[in-house]
Amino acid sequence: MDNTSQILERSAELFSGQRLLLVNPVADGLTRNLSADWTLWSWDYASSRGLAGSLPEERLVFSHLCPPVEHLDAAILVMPKAIERAEYALAQMVPLLAQGKPVYLVGEKKGGITRAEKLLGRYGVRPEKLDSARHCQLWRVIVDQPVAPFSLGDWLQQYELSFDDQPLQLVSLPGVFSHGRLDEGSELLLAERRPLPAGRVLDFGCGSGVLSLILARRNPEARFELVDVDALAIHCARQSLALNGVEAEVHASDGLSDVHGRFAAVISNPPFHTGIRQDTSIAERFFEQVTRNLLPGGELRIVANGFLRYPPLIEQHIGPCHVLRENNRFKVYSAVAPG
Ligand SMILES: C[S@@+](CC[C@H](N)C(=O)[O-])C[C@H]1O[C@@H](n2cnc3c(N)ncnc32)[C@H](O)[C@@H]1O
Repeated sequence: MDNTSQILERSAELFSGQRLLLVNPVADGLTRNLSADWTLWSWDYASSRGLAGSLPEERLVFSHLCPPVEHLDAAILVMPKAIERAEYALAQMVPLLAQGKPVYLVGEKKGGITRAEKLLGRYGVRPEKLDSARHCQLWRVIVDQPVAPFSLGDWLQQYELSFDDQPLQLVSLPGVFSHGRLDEGSELLLAERRPLPAGRVLDFGCGSGVLSLILARRNPEARFELVDVDALAIHCARQSLALNGVEAEVHASDGLSDVHGRFAAVISNPPFHTGIRQDTSIAERFFEQVTRNLLPGGELRIVANGFLRYPPLIEQHIGPCHVLRENNRFKVYSAVAPG
């Protein structure tokens, strides 16, 4: 069990038998071990898949929006990586609680739980630290004031990026990669003007959709399919595509779990963090598995921090890896599947 689940289990007397909303759950046995009337809201497709089958389908919601659960006794948020994501989640959770009901925040010290007092202090006086163990803390505040209903529009950020060949409107939500700006790595990938092959193109880890949006206009013969593990990213990518009049398919996938068929090209600025930790395992698994989704002669084109040792992996699984472009931080790599 994750440390955050263990600390919740230690305080089982607070939660047993209650009607609870658990937000950003870890895919472990907490809801099996701690007997309560659980509803789970996850924006992480990997956790949702991991938890599938552990409780009835309608009690596990994968979405960018919190399910409207009624008559809650309490709500618990597992601290997300980005503090703004915690604010976004609390703004949806707290209006579901009647005054006098508690909201809990649990998380690792390294993961920003030290901000709990400030985060919870908006909803009630005197947030309390209830427990501290295994580098984690459990905090609680009793909601003691009326809270404004949540409105997604207050959290959606729309911004314009201009490239030398086109302007672009993007939509973003808190905690979506590169919220409100263009990542330097993505910028370098987009500086590469070599056309993509015609046909299906997969954008792996699409975020708010910036890569596909720009490349779709430059490559009218390509049909883009965008995937991400994060429900907020998926929502933003769909909104961004609609706003720019670009047609493409967007759906959830954990790695390539829900990617089917073969593509003429796969583009990506692959993730190298899981939560707060640097973690290249997702990218490594992606290089290993992506051959199954590349047509013979299909191109993999990615950008990555120059210090990450991706070329040997790409060569091992796909084929000779060329540097198309580089600066002092990033490299754009291209490899073509054997044809
Ligand atoms: C470095 S960001 C790139 C985002 C976007 N393509 C851009 O260039 O701005 C990596 C993206 O991968 C997503 N991601 C992380 N883990 C993933 C996984 N297991 N499966 C699919 N996508 C994942 C993240 O949510 C994030 O949006």
